[in-house]
Amino acid sequence: MVGQGKRLQDKVAFITGAGMGQGREAAILFAEHGAKVIVADINAEAGQETVEEIRQRWGDVALFVQGDVGVEQDVQRMIATGVQRFGRLHILYNNAGVLWKDRDRSVTETTEENWDRVMAINLKGTFFTCKYGIPELIKSGGGSIINVGSVSALLGFELPQDAYTASKGALISLTKSLAIQFARYNIRANIIHPGIIDTPMQAKYIADPQVRDAFIRSIPLRRLGTPRDIAYLALYLASDESSYMTGAELVIDGGFTAQ
Ligand SMILES: NC(=O)c1ccc[n+]([C@@H]2O[C@H](COP(=O)([O-])OP(=O)(O)OC[C@H]3O[C@@H](n4cnc5c(N)ncnc54)[C@H](O)[C@@H]3O)[C@@H](O)[C@H]2O)c1
Repeated sequence: MVGQGKRLQDKVAFITGAGMGQGREAAILFAEHGAKVIVADINAEAGQETVEEIRQRWGDVALFVQGDVGVEQDVQRMIATGVQRFGRLHILYNNAGVLWKDRDRSVTETTEENWDRVMAINLKGTFFTCKYGIPELIKSGGGSIINVGSVSALLGFELPQDAYTASKGALISLTKSLAIQFARYNIRANIIHPGIIDTPMQAKYIADPQVRDAFIRSIPLRRLGTPRDIAYLALYLASDESSYMTGAELVIDGGFTAQ
């Protein structure tokens, strides 16, 4: 029941990129709140670790499915396997993404191959999960789609990752289209725009203390975000507490874009 104890009781969630970082933290928090969790990741070791941690704490409520979100057959299989195991699907959390600062730079420098691969993971992955996930949400009587953008989709930066930025920008438009199309099925679609979050994705870029400090100084709340900061927002969007929210963009960045 809304606002009480376990906020996702009897819900089934499919979370991509749940082996590490924000996806992993959300998988753990969702399980703590009563959800069954389908942990999807390309990295088998990481995905299995997430499932193992959940099983140790809350029992047999998580399943690992391995695959590449940029490959249609993989996504179809991962969703089918998860639905077979847990019977239904209510939450699609399209979290998997890549930020390749070394290979994804300005349009004048990026190769077509790198551009296409970033788009395949960050944008086409969400297309595929929606293609196979939405029919399952409809069968369940509705659900919540959580897409993951970035503050990079809202601002330009002097050191660009143009494929990343374009993929995240496209997700904003896709989210609104999904919200309108599927509202009649009681399916909501919203997008989260994280700021700089301390996850494996950022680890190698913030390993240098000077770079880390410079990032921190650029954030009004004077700290990096944590996976838990984002997981709490995702928990709200996944739960019925947000049942009147759809088509929304939620910035969660310590005030970075408000400056
Ligand atoms: N960390 C940040 O500062 C930040 C900021 C804004 C937005 N984001 C977005 O948040 C989301 C999560 O980021 P994170 O920081 O937790 O990243 P992360 O790199 O720490 O974790 C990403 C997970 O996705 C998995 N993954 C990568 N490619 C995949 C593929 N092709 N198929 C399936 N799984 C795949 C990885 O194995 C990993 O477990 C991403 O969409 C990212 O773009 C992150």
